[in-house]
Amino acid sequence: MLKDNYGRSIDYLRISVTDRCNLRCVYCMPDTIKSGCHHDGKIASDSVLSYEEILRFVRAAAPLGIKKVRLTGGEPLVRSLIHELIRGIKSTEGIEELSLTTNGQRLSETAALMAECGLDRVNVSLDSLQPQRYAEITQGGSLDKAMAGIEAARAAGLLPIKLNMVPMSGVNDDEIEAFIRFGIRTGYQIRFIELMPTVVNEHIFNKGFIGSDEIRQRIEKEFLLTPLKVRKHGPARYFNVMSRHEPRSAGVIGIINAVTCRFCTQCNRLRLTSDGRLRPCLYSNIEVGLCSALRTNASKEDLQSLIIQAVDLKPERHHIPEDAASAASGAPFIMSGIGG
Ligand code: GTP
Ligand code: 5AD
Ligand code: SF4
Repeated sequence: MLKDNYGRSIDYLRISVTDRCNLRCVYCMPDTIKSGCHHDGKIASDSVLSYEEILRFVRAAAPLGIKKVRLTGGEPLVRSLIHELIRGIKSTEGIEELSLTTNGQRLSETAALMAECGLDRVNVSLDSLQPQRYAEITQGGSLDKAMAGIEAARAAGLLPIKLNMVPMSGVNDDEIEAFIRFGIRTGYQIRFIELMPTVVNEHIFNKGFIGSDEIRQRIEKEFLLTPLKVRKHGPARYFNVMSRHEPRSAGVIGIINAVTCRFCTQCNRLRLTSDGRLRPCLYSNIEVGLCSALRTNASKEDLQSLIIQAVDLKPERHHIPEDAASAASGAPFIMSGIGG
């Protein structure tokens, strides 16, 4: 069992398999970032870990107590043959759950095969239910494709399906209620995520940030929320949601206060970046480089001591200031190579 210096058990590994993406969401990859996404100057395509390297890492991490793995990006489905990686990870002894976070654009073609290869479930980013607005926020994405992908995931049994929506003031916050009604109608779990500051979205963050308290207040005007006791080790708080007007229709929503919460005391995560850096905290630049160890065929024991080193460096908590302006200017990272 991996324990950090603050007594937290670390059993969840998030792996960013690529920093590339087929979309350009305004809060993640604004115009200033051009295609290829090697925007932090650190990630060159030849330094992206191969599937074989990722698998060697997972096989070293599982005996230490990693049980849950999530594939992220960038967009994980832009990497070819991702099902082969899924098969390899899921057949690793000790890995109990494998999930993936995607924008859904390629999900309709890939869902069935990924499920066959052992993927358990998916979370899909969906910031608008209006085609034109969806295209604007994602700078070119197709809502129809995302919806078809979500349906295909449902048909493939990748359940429960969680839809991540980032409400932004003046951009899509007028759709919060529509998302809840959509979730109630379909059974998908809608999760509202606080917009997080990164080094590339200061402007959007300063204009658009809405805190989870405000999100909740807005929801409660039209819906009754009952907290669920399912909070595990993630940043989401879950609620039963019921319309005040139609009390027989109910669903489940999550609110992720990625910025304002202090879920850090329960944080169980480690992150592997697409170019082989192990990050013990999303919001800290502390990293342990693994690329050369993986490329020089380091032994399992050597990899394990690097993992233990990263866990030892895990900070007690993040230090994002809660006021928007200083939060954005202090933001230490770019999301796409780390995977949220
Ligand atoms: P579940 O296993 O379904 O709960 O998934 P998840 O919430 O761990 O994964 P997902 O990729 O859907 O992440 C949703 C969002 O939660 C991310 O984009 C981040 O905004 C936020 N988030 C995830 N991990 C962290 C974390 O360690 N710290 C903070 N502050 N936010 C996080
Ligand atoms: N703030 C909040 N959520 C973000 N995501 C990406 N960038 C940000 C940000 N700056 C979300 C995506 C996706 C998840 C992996 O991360 O919408 O659902
Ligand atoms: Fe791509 Fe996800 Fe970033 Fe949108 S949020 S640009 S889908 S990596």
